[in-house]
Amino acid sequence: MESKQLSQSVGERVCSIDQVPVNVRLRQPSTRRPQFLSLNPLINMTLSKDIKRKPPGPASPLALGIDTETLATLQELQATHGDFVSITLTNGRLAYFINDPDEVRKLLVKQHARYRKGPGFERVKMLLGNGLIVSDGAVWRRSRTMIQPAFSRQNVHRLIELMIDCARSTAARWERVATAGATIDITQEMSDFALELILRCIFGLDFEDRILATGENPFAFLSRDSTRDLRVVLKVRESRQLVLDVIRARREHGNRDQFDFLAMYMSATDKEGRHFSDDELLDELVTLIVAGYETSAGTLNWAWFLLAKNPDAEVALLDEAARVLPAPEAIDQEALAEMTFTQQLLEETLRLYPPVWLFTRRATVDDALSKYDVPAGADIYLSPYIMHRTAEFWSDPAQFLPERFGTESVHKKGDQPYFPFSLGPRRCLGEYFSFLEMKVHLGLLIQRFHMTLVSDQDPELDLGINLRTQHSIILRPHLRERTQ
Ligand code: HEM
Repeated sequence: MESKQLSQSVGERVCSIDQVPVNVRLRQPSTRRPQFLSLNPLINMTLSKDIKRKPPGPASPLALGIDTETLATLQELQATHGDFVSITLTNGRLAYFINDPDEVRKLLVKQHARYRKGPGFERVKMLLGNGLIVSDGAVWRRSRTMIQPAFSRQNVHRLIELMIDCARSTAARWERVATAGATIDITQEMSDFALELILRCIFGLDFEDRILATGENPFAFLSRDSTRDLRVVLKVRESRQLVLDVIRARREHGNRDQFDFLAMYMSATDKEGRHFSDDELLDELVTLIVAGYETSAGTLNWAWFLLAKNPDAEVALLDEAARVLPAPEAIDQEALAEMTFTQQLLEETLRLYPPVWLFTRRATVDDALSKYDVPAGADIYLSPYIMHRTAEFWSDPAQFLPERFGTESVHKKGDQPYFPFSLGPRRCLGEYFSFLEMKVHLGLLIQRFHMTLVSDQDPELDLGINLRTQHSIILRPHLRERTQ
């Protein structure tokens, strides 16, 4: 959910999932600079030694970040200490790493109000201000209540046409590539596709009239720029200013009967009947751009990779798409709901590669989970990536098996610790939207193209706030014969 450049923290390293060492030696305090120190780390901190009911954990302090090295550390902590681990961080703060499904659920659902967002979110604030993803407490509750209706199924259905348009223009571009016998950087294509779609859904006609009118898409740096230097800071500032200009123009000229997220956000009111201010709208719209494109883009990127490696899944997807979506005109919510295999394929992709692979929280009051005390100020780490691959919960966890998510399967939702969209009141608002956009995209494109991998290079994980591929996935499109 964070833009590429912002999540590339100093010292991030990459490795493939198969290369993540299981028995890596835990780092000692001096070996690594602690990340994400809060402004005043001593506020609200309980020292480890004061906790009476404390879970097991390593004796020496450790540094945890949101990076590939942290994945290896967490995997080892789980292997050595079990499902509930306490860690003293190098900044002196107490942290818990939890893999017990019942306790994870309790924390995210029933006891969520005792926690706020944790380490890592400070960095995202430069771009997102105090929008939904980073806000907490009363500010978050008010915004969530105002925004949630915009994501009703009825509203999302009205955006299906835009999803079809974006998928069709992708198809037209790929046709030219296929005819020329060239290749596609699917990683970049998926970023571009998802970014354009969310911008059109947010700004409607203003996307063409006001945003593209400035020249090149001013948000393109989100999907293209991997640096994190001053130029990016300037681009963030410029793009925030542009969103503010669009908001002001809408205030002046009205919504022109448009149906888009901006119009819905502008008409939302809180309990007192107040609307969002311009600054609040700005933070919420930028949040929506970032939340709405990179997660879906990452999932589609992995989905195309897995399809190219699993011909049976490709055939099943193609059969379903040809049956349910024989023509773009046939696409509507009922047809998309019938795409049960595609749904399973996407769910399995999200199990193996959850874009938000690590959640962090910070306890705001003293709490208890399992048989342990969680003091106010403690940091919490939860990893869908690790839980989705734990053999105790999943058979053959490393295998790509979409049928796990069949309705009759023991792996059906709810029976397993499966939470790519989080759980509870802070669960993703765009879950339904993202499944529809991904089904439209795959359903239309699989009928036009058979995709093959150009090399057997492992794309390797690049872990920041989002899980990405370190190397672009390159595919060769082969045109299928048209049946219609
Ligand atoms: C495969 C696609 C997606 C995945 C896996 C995903 C995952 C998530 C997760 C895990 C969170 C919670 C993060 C946390 O609590 O720390 C979240 C929050 C959110 N997502 Fe998504 N997301 C996806 C697509 C989208 C889309 C397409 C949109 C918008 C159109 C969206 C909008 C949001 C918003 C607004 C929040 C903040 C909710 C809140 O805090 O109240 N997401 N998402």
